[in-house]
Amino acid sequence: MLKELLDGNKKLAIIGMGYVGLPLALEFSKDIEVVGFDISEPLIKKLRSGTDPKGETPDSDFENRKIIFTTDENDLKNISTFIVAVPTPITKLKSPDLRPLRGASEVIGRNMDAGSTIVYESTVYPGCTEEDCIPILERESGLKHLKDFNVGYSPERINPGDKVHTLTNTIKIVSGDTSQSLDQIAALYEHIVTAGVHRATSIKVAEAAKIIENTQRDLNIALMNELSIIFDHMNINTHEVIEAAGSKWNFLKFYPGLVGGHCIGVDSYYLTYKSEQLGYKPEIILAGRKINDNLSKHVVNRVLDHFKLKNKKASNAKILVLGVTFKENVSDIRNSKIIEVIQELKSHNVKIEIYDPHVNRKKLKDDYKLDTIDKIGKEYDGIIAAVKHKEFIEFQPKMLKSICEAQAILIDIKSIYKEIDGLTYWSL
Ligand SMILES: NC(=O)c1ccc[n+]([C@@H]2O[C@H](COP(=O)([O-])OP(=O)(O)OC[C@H]3O[C@@H](n4cnc5c(N)ncnc54)[C@H](O)[C@@H]3O)[C@@H](O)[C@H]2O)c1
Repeated sequence: MLKELLDGNKKLAIIGMGYVGLPLALEFSKDIEVVGFDISEPLIKKLRSGTDPKGETPDSDFENRKIIFTTDENDLKNISTFIVAVPTPITKLKSPDLRPLRGASEVIGRNMDAGSTIVYESTVYPGCTEEDCIPILERESGLKHLKDFNVGYSPERINPGDKVHTLTNTIKIVSGDTSQSLDQIAALYEHIVTAGVHRATSIKVAEAAKIIENTQRDLNIALMNELSIIFDHMNINTHEVIEAAGSKWNFLKFYPGLVGGHCIGVDSYYLTYKSEQLGYKPEIILAGRKINDNLSKHVVNRVLDHFKLKNKKASNAKILVLGVTFKENVSDIRNSKIIEVIQELKSHNVKIEIYDPHVNRKKLKDDYKLDTIDKIGKEYDGIIAAVKHKEFIEFQPKMLKSICEAQAILIDIKSIYKEIDGLTYWSL
């Protein structure tokens, strides 16, 4: 597979040009002919101009690449290998929304030839590739799995905004439906991942490994969030407790926080869904999810309690929100929990001003009808420092104090700042 790709006899297609698919496509296209396929016309237009609209990939990464970007499935001919990197979100009822994955499988099925290999990268529950995707490939192509084509699964571990742990220096899990396909898929990824690959014993094992990486993180943060609520009642600073406990060799340092984004807060539901389908209702995983999902209410209550204590009507209060993205130094607002905090405070008629130098403003406006300010104002009754963007770390306590009214509150969700004289300080 790798040889015919390197010889230029066959092409590699990557379906889904988002956070995962684009860097992968650009990396492979250094010496392999790549077709970058997506259903979004505006996105493909931008990529053709050599720019990543998400701002994650520098323009220089588009230079000297053997790649075409397309929405036309006719470009998916003469492809030997397909990689699928489409989103796997959840529905309003928090069950897996497999529509993008099914759509991608259909388009591949319609265009693949005998001899193809299809590798799924999207995060799914164990069993999804074999039970949900392969039947679609067979139905659409009229070909038979294992006789005519092979399938593998290689979960993505990319961490947006992280310049240290990258696609090429992070070990990649690979799996295949036969030992030969596993060898081929391993060789394909070894070509770009200098850290090497981990060969999982089956596709299901690889799917499960990815899902527990994120479930574990979700639960560890949930534990810290619950501790933070308990310590709040005890008037103890959680971060100081974690620092102290962290002096022991086997204490793991996780920190409380709003768990948003399209991975950590979503993926556990894929696992719990499948588990429930099989007759077991998970207990700790769902309890952790509930704590993390409800944390924004805890933050809102803290703000409203403060106003009550100071005899300030919420409808007369003005709050500055520093950061609205789901994590630091990215533009992504998918499932950002601070947006829930903002919406809840707005329902109490609190005036909100949002300052975020990283956010995709258009998306914030389109999806949530929220605007950001260009310049931080003054006379705030509260500041919610929600995201640890690099710019916010530089803010001086004196500046924060100077833009606030007397008796204002600083809600320092990520503990960026320490107590500031003259402001009521609260952190998770
Ligand atoms: N972003 C991350 O940090 C990250 C990390 C690890 C794993 N993952 C997983 O990787 C997968 C992709 O995530 P992402 O963040 O890159 O998603 P994304 O939303 O950034 O991008 C997905 C792209 O797929 C396109 N798409 C949707 N349906 C399609 C279809 N039927 N055919 C072709 N294109 C289609 C969309 O237009 C979009 O451009 C998800 O399963 C996610 O859980 C993401």
